[in-house]
Order: sequence, then C-alpha cells, then structure tokens
Amino acid sequence: MSRHKIALVGGGAIGSTIALMTTQRVLGDVVMLDRPEYIDPVHGKALDILAVRPHFGFDVDLTSTSDYHMIEGADIVVVTAGVPRGPNMTREDVLAVNIKIIEEVAGKIKKHAPDAFVILTTNPVDAIVHAFYKHSGMKKSQVVGLSGALDTSRFKNFISMETGYSVKDVSCLVMGGHGPTMIPITRTATVGGIPLRDLLSDERINYIVERTRHAGTEIVNLLGNGSAYFSSASAIVEMMESVIFDKKRVIASSALCEGEYGIDGHFIGVPCVLGSSGVEKIIEFKLTDDEQDMVDHTLQSIKKTVEQAGIIE
Ligand code: 2OP
Repeated sequence: MSRHKIALVGGGAIGSTIALMTTQRVLGDVVMLDRPEYIDPVHGKALDILAVRPHFGFDVDLTSTSDYHMIEGADIVVVTAGVPRGPNMTREDVLAVNIKIIEEVAGKIKKHAPDAFVILTTNPVDAIVHAFYKHSGMKKSQVVGLSGALDTSRFKNFISMETGYSVKDVSCLVMGGHGPTMIPITRTATVGGIPLRDLLSDERINYIVERTRHAGTEIVNLLGNGSAYFSSASAIVEMMESVIFDKKRVIASSALCEGEYGIDGHFIGVPCVLGSSGVEKIIEFKLTDDEQDMVDHTLQSIKKTVEQAGIIE
C-alpha cells in the first residue's frame, strides 16, 4: 500500500507542529510549503524534524518547498497560511490580509491537489473556509475549517480540570462559529456517562462555558506573539486520522450547511462524520429553543464577516 501524502501549506507554528505530530504518528509523507521569502526557517524546521526520526525509528519522508508541484497528489492538505492575531485583536481583525492569502492558495491547491481533503485553520476561520471553497471550486465534502475539534477539546479540558476527572471520560460538543459566539452544549455534556449538570453547579458550568469561548484569546494574550498551536495541531491531527483511516469519527468542524439547523449557504461548526470521503454527513439533532437561538446568533456574526469580506453579496 502506498503511503498517504500530507501537504502543509504554511510552515509557521501550527504547520510545523503538525509536521512533527504526523511524522511521529507515521500518518504519511509530509510536504511543508511556504512562500520563498519565508522558506528558510521552514527548511530548518524540516531538517530538525527529520532528525527526530532516528530517535523513534519512523520511516516517513518530509520535504520543504515553495513549489506547489510538490503537493501533487496530496490526500490531505492543511492550510495554516496567514497571519495570526495578536493581543487585543479579534480574529476578524486579520480578515483582510488573510483573505488575500487564501484566495491565492485556493487556486493552486485546486490545480495541484484537486482530490485532497482540505482543512483550514486561518482566521477568521468560518469566513476563510467559505472564501477557500468559493475560490477553489472544490466539493463541499472536501473542505472544512478547524473549529469544533479545537473548541471541544478546550471544553473537555476545562470540564476535566473543574471536576478532577479524566479527560478521557468527558464527552461533549461545541457548535457554532469559532469565536466568542460559539456554543458549548452543556445539556449533552457527560463525564463517564453522567450528565455534567449532575456533577457541577450552574455557576461552575457557566464559568467553563465562558472560559471555553475565550480560550483562544486567553492564550493569545499570554503568548504575546501568535496564537495557540499545540492544541490546534492536535485537533487537526485528530481530524486527519479520521479521514486517513476512515474512522467516521463525529467531530465538529466548520462545514457548509445547506439547510441543517436552519442554516443555508454558510460554513459553521456542526457535528460532522469525517471519513475517507471527507465530510460524509452533517449530523442533526434536536436543539432546545435556547440552543437554536444561540445558533441563530452565532450565524449572524458569521454572516456579517462573510458579507464584510465580499465573499457573498
Ligand atoms: C484559537 O482559537 C488559533 O483561533 C485559534 O486558538
């Protein structure tokens, strides 16, 4: 069986962490791609990661390049290209610069890796993934943004920290836009099958919900330069593994809704079945009136950004 090919467009902190994680997990051969003016540090990171291989004995290839021909035939493309926000900035503050970058890479990815499953992390991700979809002309099942995989891991982590119980036993979902309007669904959250609401007070649950909504900002402010990358890379790897091994994991991702949850024509975080055909299904479940109101609210904020960016009229 030939090895999978994984292309990473953007060799910054998230891209290089994914490169390390995917090679360590032997998910496939990796190509790190960045613009010529940024490529030297990427060559350096690639060489550094290649020298990790002898420690653990994994025989996968890793190359770094500015040449899009090298991503030819990629099964998975992860787009992290773009600028991260800094302290006191919203994700929307980097929209104008990032949209130009994404429009440029979209055509190249479509040309050189037309059958790939593409995961984007560039912010503001729900609008950026929409722009990528539009400019690439790729199928909706092939294109998703990183949202719920990361937001849900943060929600799980805070539940584990608050209860003191293993992260492994926490099950929950975060839907909606990747930003402060995201919706950590508390009604369905459980630890070891026990409803979260039977384990924590409303006050502590509200604290966790708010901390989850602002977790990215909390990290941006602490880092002072750049945004979260260990957890973002881990979330991407989880999504990739589900596609590569056809696991059919249910992972919330920013996917194109066409009627689901009353959303039509927008990318937003919804529970997706990820398998070898990409987004194989968006799972719908019955929301309470309050939850549906929150979906409508988060959708308004995505619509505003998408319209501001001229992605849809
Ligand atoms: C975050 O939430 C990078 O937007 C990403 O940390």
